[in-house]
Amino acid sequence: MNRDIITIEDLSNDEILTLFKIADEFLDKWGKEVSSSSRVTAVRGRQTVANDFVLATLFYEPSTRTRLSFESAMLRLGGQVVTCADAANSSAVKGETIADTVRVVETYADAIVIRHPAEGAARVAADFAEVPVINAGDGGHEHPTQTLCDLYTLYREKGSLANLSVLICGDLKNGRTVHSLVFALARFGGHILTSPAPGLGLPDHVIHRLITDYQGDVQPGPKIDDIPIDAVYQTPERSHQLALIPDLSTTLEINIKNSVNHIDVCYVTRFQKERSTDTDRATTSYPKIDRKFLNKLKNRKTSVLHPLPRVDELGYDVDGDRRALYFQQAAYGVPMRMALLAALLKLRVGLNDVPRSTGIANAYSRPEGIRCANDRCVTNADGERRHLVPSFLVIDRVPIRLRCKYCEHETVPVAFGNATTHKYYRDWGATGLHGFSNVVFFGGEAEAESVGFVLSRARPRHETPVGSAQ
Ligand code: NCD
Repeated sequence: MNRDIITIEDLSNDEILTLFKIADEFLDKWGKEVSSSSRVTAVRGRQTVANDFVLATLFYEPSTRTRLSFESAMLRLGGQVVTCADAANSSAVKGETIADTVRVVETYADAIVIRHPAEGAARVAADFAEVPVINAGDGGHEHPTQTLCDLYTLYREKGSLANLSVLICGDLKNGRTVHSLVFALARFGGHILTSPAPGLGLPDHVIHRLITDYQGDVQPGPKIDDIPIDAVYQTPERSHQLALIPDLSTTLEINIKNSVNHIDVCYVTRFQKERSTDTDRATTSYPKIDRKFLNKLKNRKTSVLHPLPRVDELGYDVDGDRRALYFQQAAYGVPMRMALLAALLKLRVGLNDVPRSTGIANAYSRPEGIRCANDRCVTNADGERRHLVPSFLVIDRVPIRLRCKYCEHETVPVAFGNATTHKYYRDWGATGLHGFSNVVFFGGEAEAESVGFVLSRARPRHETPVGSAQ
């Protein structure tokens, strides 16, 4: 079975660490210091291991690092690359769907790297292509291979990923690198502290997932020195804490057992203007990391990471500092992506045959009824909408929540139809259904009536939803 890397959740912790070992081998054997002033080591030379393979890079959004490092990685493995670096010049402008494009491109290449502005686009590509598909960023959703590069940098520089305390600054709402990173950090037992620009904190669905899938709690956050920290998440092996105060000026203290008194890593991100709304643009102040800020931190070893490109949020006065790792982080993109490509193409043992989790048991998919509430979801995109069937995982909670299979935003149904009787109910309990196989979820009553469902006046039989599929 071919594996796809669409979200960071597609890789287990063991697989991530195995990929790091493969990247280490490439780097140890082929790495050279390419810049003595910034002490950056990069892979040089060309091998023959992927001689028979071709990689396709399909970029519907601008990119420098991600596309070039994937292409460099493939070339240094000995493979070849075909690219569509500017999809404005592809058949997408003629109205071709992602599904059709990848079904064609897979006949030209052995693996596909895709970047697209629609959230969930890479999942669509993976559903339709049989070759491995790698998500190089799908709108504001995820960017899992950037997270591999981020974690690999920390693993190389800090020696371990365990117990790291990571301050994440900037646009956490629209920044896809952050969305992949927080889940990975949670899984490796890190502390996450967030310092967003006002109004640009982590999206609700990301926070809910940190709480439900990683058993975090929401709590007020501490102010560390003068750093405007507004959130702390700690993973279960520590105390269960997720703090979130949406106001940067908060001075609330967090009441935690293992209070965070130092920061190992400062992860800086730019304002994602290409994805911003008018409200986002009205943000009053944007956190800036400069030498002055770094000198105030209690931990003199705090590393500074940035997925790049930077704009104004990271001072150039940090570049000469030993703690500035962002150029090395970008250079690590090549050995890391070499390792990933080699494993996906089965040139190296590194990934299990079966993906980490499927969530099949709670899958729900129907052409009629509820649609994903996220306007930026690929299922709501022009062209794609005409053929994609809305698909969700039913999240086992009260009230019932649906997590979109594509963009992973949450949607809450407000009416519940019985597919056999064509009656709909305002309360899940009233349906009498015990599983989700015969239910049609609706986002509104008008939606139910528009497809011929009639309101039932039956009284609720259950107080709470059954909550798991049969
Ligand atoms: C990031 C991206 O595209 O999401 N860049 C990258 O891939 N290195 C970060 C960004 O553009 O801000």
